[in-house]
Amino acid sequence: MEEALTTIRQESILDLRNAASEADIYQVKSKYIGRSGSLTQLIKNLITIPAEQRAVVGKLANEIKKSIEAGVEDALKCLRENKKQQAMGRVDIDLTLPGRCQSLGRRHPITQVTDEIVSVFTELGFQMAEGPEIELDFFNFEALNIPKDHPARDMHDTFYISAEVLLRTHTSPVQIRTMQQTKPPLRIICPGKVYRCDSDVSHTPMFHQIEGLMVDNDISFGDLKGILTLFLHRIFSEKTSIRFRPSFFPFTEPSAEVDIQCVICRGKGCRVCKGTGWLEILGCGMVQPAVFRNVGYDPETTTGFAFGLGVERVAMLKYGINDIRLFFENDLRFLSQF
Ligand code: PHE
Repeated sequence: MEEALTTIRQESILDLRNAASEADIYQVKSKYIGRSGSLTQLIKNLITIPAEQRAVVGKLANEIKKSIEAGVEDALKCLRENKKQQAMGRVDIDLTLPGRCQSLGRRHPITQVTDEIVSVFTELGFQMAEGPEIELDFFNFEALNIPKDHPARDMHDTFYISAEVLLRTHTSPVQIRTMQQTKPPLRIICPGKVYRCDSDVSHTPMFHQIEGLMVDNDISFGDLKGILTLFLHRIFSEKTSIRFRPSFFPFTEPSAEVDIQCVICRGKGCRVCKGTGWLEILGCGMVQPAVFRNVGYDPETTTGFAFGLGVERVAMLKYGINDIRLFFENDLRFLSQF
């Protein structure tokens, strides 16, 4: 019987070592110490042996039973610990997948066109100037020779904040602010947001203008024409025809509007140019002596020209865009084309 016990001890150790799963371990357990396990049977048969041997053999049998129980627990613990380690250490990476593309941002078309226009003028010695978007009536109108009852105010569709405070309707107030602070000669270029209560396919309540001003003691209409022609040829193309048409602004005299040959039909006449072959692109003129007087310059010895243009309009013509609202919808399919 002692021999049988030793065999059970050795075989159970081997069986547990070979058990690869929980099921295997439980099977080993039942093989030896289950209800009909070999060790259980053997213990049941202890009564058949002489009493003096029984104590010794019984003690041994109990020891073996305990060691098998402990062995089963250890094996289970070990197996569970291994599984946990594997789960934690497992890395789910598919090295064959392509990397995630980081899409690159880009400047808004309005910013690009603004920068392009400003750089043409900075190359000509113009300096950047800026002013507030919430403006006083004085800078936006009065000082520009547009008194309270002047009919030109009707053209501006102004957003008033109070009787004297408004959202600037054009960038021309920056001229006044800069001239008040600087003595001539002066060459400035002022980009910025302006506001008018107007909205359709070619108007938005907020849009961008660029103002230019050149002041010295011998500036002529020839300077104005030369610089604006050079500028328009740079922005569109050398071949673009340009014409100056008489116009009226209270702050310039004489005043003109500048047209470029229609970029769509090349002058033949189409829907965009309403059959005329020309597109209006900017307003300009020689600074009114009254404006010089308002900023403390001597109108007898001071001369200058000013111009203003809408950036959205230039961008629309440059890129063939037919709805101004596309600039403000932030649709990436539109924006990523620039
Ligand atoms: N401020 C004028 C406008 O918004 C444009 C302009 C600027 C005209 C300077 C002449 C000189 O319509």
